[in-house]
Amino acid sequence: MLGSGGREHALAWKLAQSPRCTKLFAAPGNPGISECAETITLDAGDHAAVTRFCDENAVGLVVIGPEAPLVDGLADSLRAADIPVFGPSKAAAQLEGSKGFTKDLCARANIPTGGYVRTANLADAKAALADFSAPYVLKADGLAAGKGVVIAETLAAAEEALAEMFGGQFGEAGAEVVIEEFLEGEEASFFAITDGETILPFGTAQDHKRVGEGDTGPNTGGMGAYSPAPVLTPELQQRALDEILRPTVDTMRAEGMPYSGVLYLGLMLTADGPKLIEYNCRFGDPECQVLMMRLKSDLVQIMLACAKGELGGVAGEFADETALTVVMAAEGYPGTPAKGGAIDLGAPEAGGAKVFHAGTAVKDRQLVANGGRVLNVTAMGANVTEAQKAAYASVDAVSFESGFCRRDIGWREVERERG
Ligand code: AMP
Ligand code: GLY
Repeated sequence: MLGSGGREHALAWKLAQSPRCTKLFAAPGNPGISECAETITLDAGDHAAVTRFCDENAVGLVVIGPEAPLVDGLADSLRAADIPVFGPSKAAAQLEGSKGFTKDLCARANIPTGGYVRTANLADAKAALADFSAPYVLKADGLAAGKGVVIAETLAAAEEALAEMFGGQFGEAGAEVVIEEFLEGEEASFFAITDGETILPFGTAQDHKRVGEGDTGPNTGGMGAYSPAPVLTPELQQRALDEILRPTVDTMRAEGMPYSGVLYLGLMLTADGPKLIEYNCRFGDPECQVLMMRLKSDLVQIMLACAKGELGGVAGEFADETALTVVMAAEGYPGTPAKGGAIDLGAPEAGGAKVFHAGTAVKDRQLVANGGRVLNVTAMGANVTEAQKAAYASVDAVSFESGFCRRDIGWREVERERG
């Protein structure tokens, strides 16, 4: 397994539970992952080195956690060497790697999403703003570590943001910019595993992207999440499957870029039904943590079947309960996080909770913060209210003086459950 965050700790934790898993390596892993895998040093950018390691160690399945190695084509290199891999090819990973690619695909396959224009220079982009109204949604085309989206409230702010994007704010990722219709509604995430043909729906979740309580302040990678997301009713899931997912998978296959791996649909639940905001070619972080907490099926079996194009007949079974995760972050996040803050885990896993490590290190035998998002404290409950209570009870059992967390993860559902 490749990766080092909370998502990868959750994946490693679940993979290691499989009777099919005799040995698990994680590169580079983290202190949490080292409890369920042997952590190794391997540069995911060096495809020959990864392939050689897999050959020498008879690795039967490679799971790629983050998007960057996928967009970089690592899965292609492994497949070329006949090593089973869970994750899409470079061509298929364009669904996350290029916003313009995805918008054009939606247009070709008649998939519901916001109207858009692709622009390659500042003058065209400024001119295109005339076709939209405030708030303006501006997106750097390429991967920008989750920071490439600007929502500008005024025309002047939009023009300024475009100047920064084309001025190199996001490097190569901003060489092209997509301007998009603003969609109104509630956001929710839908996951599916596909081998390019068969689609296995793989759960729903909602996350909290803003750093502050009440969903205020700067955007982050996600401060907490829960699964399932009751707003994504079975009817809406069926629509997302029929109107968005199925046409995407079929079109990708028909055009010679079959998608194999997990597809993460960022949806806006609008008055006209679910519309696609974006695709990701990997699990969400921290959405993966709550999905893995609920997953009852053998993850190795599912991922191996996906890798081999044999997903037909495979089921994914999830607990009915809700899982909720709270991100404990280092002071300063999402700006420059303070490194080295001491963490004492105590006994937060009493009662079945699980603490996934997202950004930790061990220094002089002391667990310390080593990243923006540091821990994902995850618990289960009969509903969001109960899961939230259990998660915060575990948060309170963790001693992390220089850290902080939101105290309101799940608030929308908690309010709805209160009725
Ligand atoms: P992303 O980095 O692509 O996940 O986008 C960041 C956030 O911007 C999303 O989670 C949405 O909240 C918001 N967003 C992106 N596109 C749109 C849109 N077309 N309309 C409204 N909000 C959007
Ligand atoms: N939590 C949002 C993401 O993984 O992109």
